[in-house]
Amino acid sequence: MTSKNTDPFPIKQIRSDFPILSEKIYGKPLVYLDNGASTQKPIQVIKAISGVYENKYANVHRGVHYLSQVATDEMEAAREKVRGFINARSEREVIFVRGATEGINLVASSWGKANLTAGDEIILSQMEHHSNIVPWQLIANATGAIIKVIPIDDSGELEMDVFRSLLSEKTKMVAITHVSNALGTIVPLKQMIKESHDTGALVLVDGCQAAPHLQVDVQKLDADFYVFSGHKIYGPSGIGILYGKETLLEAMPPYQGGGDMIDTVSFSGSTWADLPFKFEAGTPNIADAIGMGNAIDYISTLGLPAIIEYENALLSYATEKLQAINSLKIVGNATEKAAIISFVMGDIHPHDIGTILDRQGVAVRTGHHCAQPVMERYDVPATARASFALYNTFEEIDSLAVSLAKVQEIFG
Ligand code: ALA
Repeated sequence: MTSKNTDPFPIKQIRSDFPILSEKIYGKPLVYLDNGASTQKPIQVIKAISGVYENKYANVHRGVHYLSQVATDEMEAAREKVRGFINARSEREVIFVRGATEGINLVASSWGKANLTAGDEIILSQMEHHSNIVPWQLIANATGAIIKVIPIDDSGELEMDVFRSLLSEKTKMVAITHVSNALGTIVPLKQMIKESHDTGALVLVDGCQAAPHLQVDVQKLDADFYVFSGHKIYGPSGIGILYGKETLLEAMPPYQGGGDMIDTVSFSGSTWADLPFKFEAGTPNIADAIGMGNAIDYISTLGLPAIIEYENALLSYATEKLQAINSLKIVGNATEKAAIISFVMGDIHPHDIGTILDRQGVAVRTGHHCAQPVMERYDVPATARASFALYNTFEEIDSLAVSLAKVQEIFG
């Protein structure tokens, strides 16, 4: 198979928007395939962030002075962009947090303390990232709630019959990834949310790997909570989103106390600000919230349908190329997959694979991908993972395949 013609996807223009992509690594062109961990940033986002500090910066929601109002308007405009990006009903449902991890901790702690009692059940899946496991373990330990786990089958799909058998009137929360970071599996989320709701459970979705690659519509999904991070959608790190249905957020107690989240404070008691500010204690990450808005502009200008089509073509091409390498075995072959390929190569340790690739300028992630239960399921200590983004090319996949052939040659 020869490299595909990528027209009309404007790949040349896109690549020139990302300055880091023209870096050389050990004298070789950078082939950045660690997008599941973090994506690179386009110049539009980089300039927007420095522009905030150059001429728009002051604290928000506090000052009557000009700059405070400019910064507040820009930050609230970014919130509106996020609202549109996931089709939330209202910007009151869009909370700025540090990242998806903080969003999940917020819900587990605030909603969990108010709603869980001993014997209540929380359903997770075996393919969750640690950030959608540990916060639930903490609240389960504190409340006596019990965690149940949906297993994964050999191909990397959730065992839906087991999921259905775990659901009961004791289930209070189903916390599930939209796309597995370690396997690429896209889970049948809409169906799972419907079935969870039918038994009276709420659903929190970890959308980290989905937000940059799929069209997310929280209303169509009917998700109760949905979290994702700025740094995985071509935006800055240190900023992320917790979406929650307004009625649920209204009923939840604050997660952290401090400035900006209060209405009144006195030593006889305090009252809380309206949503979304009730959950945004302290000075927020102003510039990065604005930068996240610019990242959403960037994605929206290209359009998710075109991005999805392009990334699907990259995934098919890469799957075919990698499968042709004798010793290589792909871990995770679900029918519905995002552009993530985890793999092992015989007895070669994934860190050795990663190190040899690195010397060729090819960046992949190796390790357990913060998903140790997935490694346990497939009885591997680690995998190597190539995860693709809208700026990757078919030629880069050729480079990956050539470098992997070299790995195979070195280890015989
Ligand atoms: N969650 C990130 C990954 O999958 C860090 O690599």
